[in-house]
Amino acid sequence: MQRSRIIGTGTYLPEKVLTNDDLTKQLGIDTSDAWIRERTGIGARRVAAPGEATSDMSTHAARHALDLAGITPADLDMIIVGTITPDMPFPAAAAFVQAKLGATKAACFDVSAACAGSLYALSIADQFIRTGAMKYVLVVGAELLTRIVNWQDRASCVLFGDAAGAMVMGPESRDDRGVLSTHLHTDGTQTAILCIPGGGSAKPFSQEVLDKREQLVTMQGREVYKIAVRALESVSHEALAHNGYRPQDVAHVIAHQANLRILEAVMKRLEIPLSKCHLNIERVGNTSSASVPLTLDQANRQGALKDGDLILMMAIGGGMSWGSALVRW
Ligand code: UT7
Repeated sequence: MQRSRIIGTGTYLPEKVLTNDDLTKQLGIDTSDAWIRERTGIGARRVAAPGEATSDMSTHAARHALDLAGITPADLDMIIVGTITPDMPFPAAAAFVQAKLGATKAACFDVSAACAGSLYALSIADQFIRTGAMKYVLVVGAELLTRIVNWQDRASCVLFGDAAGAMVMGPESRDDRGVLSTHLHTDGTQTAILCIPGGGSAKPFSQEVLDKREQLVTMQGREVYKIAVRALESVSHEALAHNGYRPQDVAHVIAHQANLRILEAVMKRLEIPLSKCHLNIERVGNTSSASVPLTLDQANRQGALKDGDLILMMAIGGGMSWGSALVRW
């Protein structure tokens, strides 16, 4: 059976930069640059322009990735967008992306796995390409979190930023490179620790939902932190063991940039030097499902990824849902 391979990567970051100091000075949030940097490693985040939607950001990132892949939108068989902030509840953000790109033959849908969305999408794309059912699949992680965070909750609002990242995936005939494996998990008993409780079918929009700000992100940070460290360590070991590799074989870690302290703890437990973990959280914050493709594109365009390098990808988010992918570049 053939493998799939990531043949192009792309990024889109909105122009507006919101620094930690801007949060206090412009938005009047009771926090400080020192607190945010120390607890999260974040220095700034991007904010989408009024009128800019998730599909707009996704389309920019997709064009960036398609250029590198050397294929056109007409070549795409499928578009999967990992997002929890689609343009509207339905149809899928991916359908809007299809129209904007002119990718007329692509089947389109979104994946809702929060910060793990793009990794889940990569895994789905991998299955379709491996079986030969599809040739080229566009995977996007795009999130416009600044529109759904509770700006009155200083423990969560300081974390998130807007961005889109894209990966074009295609078939690989060589057996020794491409996506080696993906592993996905969910613990549905933990839905309450990171969610938007209101505005869905369980609690439709009402004045009460709005008054309680239940249409916005709510998070139990400490619980998320503990589960994230354990889950990312375990799913990384799972990926390595499945393929007969050890942590020291890994050349690059491309991880969801949730929080620098989480990444430091996971790297320490895995005994992989932090220097192998590509970082951008200081500049862009936690960009949820955009984080993995964004970080991969950064490493790719820096020329850091060499032929044959082993890349460990990992992400976790609300659900809690998490996963890993092991890739031979
Ligand atoms: O993609 C997954 C997304 N989520 C995450 O990655 C979150 C994982 N969790 C975390 O990163 C951490 O739990 C946080 C960074 C969110 C919070 O750090 P913490 O060390 O767990 O702080 P805490 O919530 O226990 O709060 C400690 C103190 C509290 O004050 P008191 O009660 O000790 O006086 C908070 O009110 O820090 C206070 N605090 C803040 N102070 C200044 C909370 N947020 C802020 C803030 N600025 N932004």
